[in-house]
Amino acid sequence: FILPSEKGEGGAIIAKDVLGNLIPASQILAEPVGTRALVAGLAGEPTYLTIQKDGIDRIGIVDNCTHLGCTFPWNGTDQEFQCPCHGSRYSADGSVLPGPAPLPLKLVNVVVKDNVILISPWTEIDPRTGETPWWV
Ligand code: FES
Repeated sequence: FILPSEKGEGGAIIAKDVLGNLIPASQILAEPVGTRALVAGLAGEPTYLTIQKDGIDRIGIVDNCTHLGCTFPWNGTDQEFQCPCHGSRYSADGSVLPGPAPLPLKLVNVVVKDNVILISPWTEIDPRTGETPWWV
């Protein structure tokens, strides 16, 4: 087994934990469907991965509130991201529910290859708005 390089095609990086240890996809997939797993993504940004029936969702959501940059937990009961700093709430896809957050959460691409989770910048149309993403 050979690990891909730290920087793959298209600026992809390997998902790690907060201590910098590689997180194999099998470790994430051992959690129940619907789990939001937090990993260190691009530039170390905390990033939520979603476990679906058929694997890890190809869309990751960056844990960085678009109001003033707080990190926030996933509330599985309410099925929302809820920012503790000033009360912004986001739907499961990262769209803004009540603000003050002005923008949807940033997305990243997630690909699993040989049990390695690769995260790369999302530069295509934002599927929530049908427009070019605000972070591109
Ligand atoms: Fe999240 Fe203000 S930083 S609501």
